[in-house]
Amino acid sequence: MTFSHRFGAWIAVILAILSALVFPAIAQEKATLRIAVAAPMSGQFAQMGEQIRQGAELAIEDINASGGIGGQKLQIDVVDDKGDGMTAKAVARNLAKSGVRFVVGHFNSGASIPASEVYAKMGVFMISPASTNPSLTERSGKGKNLWNTHRTAGRDDVQGRLAGEYIAKAFAGRNAAILSDGTPYGDGLAIKAKAALNAAGQAEKLMSKVKVGQKDMSRLIASMNDKKIDVVFFGGLANEMATLVRQSSEAGFTPQFIAGDGIFTADFPHAAGAGVARTMFAFSLEDRQHADAQSVVARFRAKGFEPEAYTLKAYAAVQVVAKGIEIAGKCDPKAVAKAIRSGAPIPTVLGTLTFDANGDRREPDVAWYVWKADGTGGYSPAMQE
Ligand code: ALA
Repeated sequence: MTFSHRFGAWIAVILAILSALVFPAIAQEKATLRIAVAAPMSGQFAQMGEQIRQGAELAIEDINASGGIGGQKLQIDVVDDKGDGMTAKAVARNLAKSGVRFVVGHFNSGASIPASEVYAKMGVFMISPASTNPSLTERSGKGKNLWNTHRTAGRDDVQGRLAGEYIAKAFAGRNAAILSDGTPYGDGLAIKAKAALNAAGQAEKLMSKVKVGQKDMSRLIASMNDKKIDVVFFGGLANEMATLVRQSSEAGFTPQFIAGDGIFTADFPHAAGAGVARTMFAFSLEDRQHADAQSVVARFRAKGFEPEAYTLKAYAAVQVVAKGIEIAGKCDPKAVAKAIRSGAPIPTVLGTLTFDANGDRREPDVAWYVWKADGTGGYSPAMQE
């Protein structure tokens, strides 16, 4: 053994001892800590599930490369909830039974909310990078909030209010339609947009719903055309919004379309057709531009993956779990939730985050995006100037 090898071995022993002194409770726990990613890995939301998997996976790799949490390495389990509430509940039960105590997920509010009840009962901490319905972290009724729900995503009451206020200002006295896809996400968003519009003294001309998977929107489009609708707010996800925008253009109906974060997918512009240029949506400030995200963004790009939409929110979700464990000094999910909800600053790729007593981010983080021609014949999202 050379001197430098012996020196290296001693350093490793000293680091292990120091780590055990600093994180005694963590070091005594199992050698590997499992973190599950629960998201749609198949079906129409698979693209977003992949973003979440990629984000969490790189964060776990990075934490392991720097020694793990208090010497304990992280291991990822990826499970498919198909973007469906019933499947999400079954997935949640199976994860809890198999010993998983920390989950990054789910994507759809309609999956996160039912799964959160299962996790709460079975002692599992969850943090969603994407579910924006307020009731994930704030159940109606005093004392009904769950101990285990957190998110690095924003909330629909913020984006819905922004939309209602925007319509009231930019389309004052004009005809507005408010639509939903009938999911917990879409309904929540539409209700908040309507409330803000009405609070600003303007009534919507039409309120209606489409169905998830609906292929023909011609009757709804004809009715909006008859009512001379100038602006359409859509609470829902990318597929149905794309169908609505495409079929509207084909029918010669050309209002301004406005939506929430659920339409931020790489496929949306192609699926929506020419009307994409008249579509705007709310999403958090561009995570990829954040100073603290630059080296991670570069590494994603180097391996051929563009970290858009929910990717960095998933990376940050793992960082929040890791920091929570470090503050709590143990891997107990309830102690970790308490540590995070104390408002302690948590450094992440999204900057330093702090969480409130419900598990929501304290800093409001929302902006308007438009789809801009990117010079290659396609459209890319850009923050509205
Ligand atoms: N923000 C969307 C939801 O909550 C993805 O369902």
